This record gives sequence, structure tokens and C-alpha cells, in this order.
Amino acid sequence: MIRKIDKKTVDEVLRAAYDHCKSETSGKNADYIPFLKNVPSTLFGIAATLPDGTLLTVGDTDYRFGIESVSKVPTALLVMEQYSDREVLHKIGADATGLPFNSIMAILLENDHPSTPLVNAGAIAACSMVKPAGDSTGKWRAIVDFLTALAGSPVEVIDELYRSESDTNFNNRSIAWLLKNYNRIYDQPEMALDLYTRQCSIGVTAAQLATVAATIANGGVNPQTGKRVFRAELTPRIVSLMATVGFYEHTGDWLFQTGLPAKSGVGGGIMGVVPGVMGLASFAPPLDSAGNSVRAQKALAYIARELDLNLFGTTRCMVTTPASAGV
Ligand code: DON
Repeated sequence: MIRKIDKKTVDEVLRAAYDHCKSETSGKNADYIPFLKNVPSTLFGIAATLPDGTLLTVGDTDYRFGIESVSKVPTALLVMEQYSDREVLHKIGADATGLPFNSIMAILLENDHPSTPLVNAGAIAACSMVKPAGDSTGKWRAIVDFLTALAGSPVEVIDELYRSESDTNFNNRSIAWLLKNYNRIYDQPEMALDLYTRQCSIGVTAAQLATVAATIANGGVNPQTGKRVFRAELTPRIVSLMATVGFYEHTGDWLFQTGLPAKSGVGGGIMGVVPGVMGLASFAPPLDSAGNSVRAQKALAYIARELDLNLFGTTRCMVTTPASAGV
């Protein structure tokens, strides 16, 4: 990591963000997965992991929630690591759909192409690519071990969430078979679907997600364990995917306002990556209409603004004050 922002400043900004956002009550829990409907809506946490591995937290950062679509990021990285970024571009793609995360129409419009590993279709295709081919147990181990290495601590499935998702994932089932129809799934469709459902049901804390983000920001080396998890050249690839589609049909609005590449999940988690600087995460269950946590978005936007984290350049006023103004 290159740019350093001192710990005290980050800690102060995290706390200020928490105070600024804690009374935000808009949005509502995801309810198409019954388990998520019952997660307490008032939970709220913010975490940052810095280049030296320091973890800063405020609020409910030890609560284990469903990682959901944030899991699409590690698995996209895993298949880029197992194959190559080029192969993933060829087999899945890197285009934002501009449509909801579970859109079937997007698959039809993209000319039979899953479009990006960060929407459901592309994520199911990514699960189908995970090696070893044809071996559900081996693939699952690869997914869990990779996420564990990124987080620097163990993760496991929330069984009740997995059952809840498996009992209701009919739309994703259609996606898996539609991809099969177009030769865009690279192993057995039901196996890929189950791996995808299971990875979405993994429980993580905001503290763990901040470290996953920091490992990505740090070019693939986990700043807490010191271990290399993936090749450094994959950081710009995955960050570009997060920037283009991390909030689905709201991604452009988010990027315009914050310049912070981030990925959301319907469990209420959001993970933000500032390459060379830090990893961020926030968690609060109530979502907006595109499936992104309202309070977590507000918190990360506040932090990005206060710490000047916009990837595209500073948004602070750069107009020089005329000398005559006397300041
Ligand atoms: O496949 C689904 O619908 C869920 N398991 C995950 C969707 C999700 O998290 C979308 N992100 N905001």
C-alpha cells in the first residue's frame, strides 16, 4: 500500500460516520430470502483495515451476517487466479448490465453472455469454473479456503440461511439452466447453483470484510497474516469490476458521488476497496430498491468524502483563494 492516512484520523472519521448515520432508518430488510427478513434491522457497524493490518471498528462489527453478493468478489478473484483474468473476461465478461442483480433479461440482452462475475448469472458461471472440475467438495473447499485467506480468519456457512436460500432460489435455478442453454456454464448447472447458494450463505463480520477489502487493496497480500493470497495484477481487475457494477442499477450514481469501488450484498454488507490505502466495510440490514444497504452506503460515502478517498481524484475544492481575500 502506498498512501498512508494516520490511524487516529481514520478512527475519528469512522466514529463520526457512525454518529452521522445511526439514526438513518430508511430502507427495509431483504424479504425474498425468509432468513434475512428476521435479522434485527437496527444492527450497524463500520470497520476499516489499514496497510499495517490495524483493524478499526465501531458498532456491530462482530455480528455474523450473510455475505450474500459480496461473495461474488472473492470467487471472481479465485477463478481469475486459477485461470487468468483474460479467460474470465472471455468466459464471463466484464460489462455492467444496468439491470437488477438477478435479471434474466440481462442474459438475453447480452447475447447469451453472463456479462460480469458480480451479478448472479456471472457468479453462478464463476462457481461452475472453480477447479477442481466436477468435484463439488473440492470446489467448495477452494471457495472457503480462498475467502478465509482473504479475511485472515475462518468463515462458515450459516446453515439456516443456506436452507432458507435453497428453498426459495427458483430465479437463480432458471438462470443456471438458461446459461446451460447458451453453453455459458462450465460444469453441472445444479452443482454451480448449489455452490453459489452456499457461498452466499457464508457468515462474515464487518471486521472480516474490511480485511478482505484490505487484502485486495494491498495487491493480494493479507496485511494481517502477511500471506500472499492472489497475484498483484488482479487487484485492478477486480476493483474495476466492483466500480462498474458493485451497486447494480445504482452503480453510476454511487460512483459519481463517492468514487469508491464497492460491492454490496442483500445481507446488508458493503465492502469498499481503496487500492493502496485501505479496506472498508459496513453492515446494516435495511436495503434500497436495488438491494444495497442504505445505512452502510451512507456511512461509506461519508468516510470517502471526509478522507478524500475518491479514486478519480480529489473532490475537495482546489480553487486557489485570491490573495486579496486576505486568508
Ligand atoms: O442470489 C441472490 O439473490 C442472493 N443470494 C444474493 C443477492 C445479493 O446479495 C444482491 N446484492 N445486493
